Amino acid sequence: MELSAYKNWLSSYTDSDKCLEVFYNQKQFFRVNTIKISVEKFIEDTKIKCNRSKYCDTAFELEEDRNYAIGKTWEYFLGYIYPQSLSSILVSLAFDPRFDAHDSMLTVLDVAAAPGSKFSHIAALMKNKGVLVGNDIKKEKISALYSTINRLNVLNCITTIRDGSRLNWRERFDNVLLDAPCTALGSGESALKRWQVDHSEQISILQKKMLFSAYDALKPGGELIYSTCTYAKEENEEVVNNLLQNVSTSKLVEINLDIPHESGLSEYGNEFRKCYRIYPQHIQSEGFFIAKIKKLEVLG
Ligand SMILES: C[S@@+](CC[C@H](N)C(=O)[O-])C[C@H]1O[C@@H](n2cnc3c(N)ncnc32)[C@H](O)[C@@H]1O
Repeated sequence: MELSAYKNWLSSYTDSDKCLEVFYNQKQFFRVNTIKISVEKFIEDTKIKCNRSKYCDTAFELEEDRNYAIGKTWEYFLGYIYPQSLSSILVSLAFDPRFDAHDSMLTVLDVAAAPGSKFSHIAALMKNKGVLVGNDIKKEKISALYSTINRLNVLNCITTIRDGSRLNWRERFDNVLLDAPCTALGSGESALKRWQVDHSEQISILQKKMLFSAYDALKPGGELIYSTCTYAKEENEEVVNNLLQNVSTSKLVEINLDIPHESGLSEYGNEFRKCYRIYPQHIQSEGFFIAKIKKLEVLG
């Protein structure tokens, strides 16, 4: 889409000038992999110029120039760090406090896990205990997930290759993450050049099926995070609303993250104020949508 038409479309969601200005000048972040090193030890030893984020204890903003090859540092080779946008890091934190439980029996599913940014973060939050299942539909993507698992020493995991819209894993997991395939408007410049509104309408069909399947895999009382790195309501509120309208046990719950954001669109109902729309101007990072859904227990 032409930039002027895109800007016009974006202004129905947020301040498009601010949003695009920061989008093109995003800061670079990485996460310390606490499976391999404590944050304190990392700060003591690292030569990478960086500052700790005020929004997440394990996230750091890179102070090096834009061409800095973080993937060629010792810290990277040793699996001490994972380059990741701050917004993406915050998605896994949206699950808390359930991951804090040190629960060795906790079962967690990541429906679309590759290349494993949030997956490896969740493993660290689970203290490498319990069972973490990482699924993706593509074999070649699963090999990217393997290299993340190996480099970061994720031990509490199993990987599967399945169509996330037809999992057929009824009520097996305490927590489920669906970081859905999306049009990635908050993420890549090339994505927004290729994008047309009907792309969002098309992918929304798959996202709705995946959310039903992910929700089906959730145990009663469990919580699910639905996230995308895009802005279109067809891929966000509409997908979540489709579940809420059709499944009476599903309910949006508050996300307890103290970060600047805009609320989900209230045209879908007041409940959607509980969702987070993070735009680049909020935390100098990618755009993201996050919804937290609970499966209510039916007393019987
Ligand atoms: C946004 S990416 C996931 C990023 C990942 N969660 C992370 O944080 O590193 C979306 C993923 O969905 C996968 N995908 C697409 N269609 C799928 C389907 N029907 N079932 C399962 N995964 C699918 C893609 O292969 C891609 O890896």
